Amino acid sequence: MLTGRIIQLGGTPVTTPQDWYKWTNCGYDVPDDPFVRKILEQNIKGEQSAIGVYQKLLQTTLTSDPVTYNIVLQILEQEAEHEEDLQSLLDYRPGPRGRRGPQSHPSENEDIASSRDSWSSRSPQ
Ligand SMILES: [Fe+2]
Repeated sequence: MLTGRIIQLGGTPVTTPQDWYKWTNCGYDVPDDPFVRKILEQNIKGEQSAIGVYQKLLQTTLTSDPVTYNIVLQILEQEAEHEEDLQSLLDYRPGPRGRRGPQSHPSENEDIASSRDSWSSRSPQ
């Protein structure tokens, strides 16, 4: 979505992982600590950084580029969802006998392991 817009505006998208690390606005914390809590905290930090970057882009494009503004707004909504999902996993507290209690993850049918798999395969922000 954003790549297409960059090309429309005459720019060159950053497409290789090496360049992602070079040009990232958010940095990248290597997940070298095996504890899930630490990895979740690192990912939440990454999502929050991405949200900040997209909020700045919204301000920049608000009056000058409505097409880019709408694209960035859609991406920002997705990043906010990512942060909420990760925060839900971080806040997860099992109920008695490992069952989910009233403060458990809102998606009752979703196993925490499958949630973990879906976010761990994402590329850095
Ligand atoms: Fe994200």
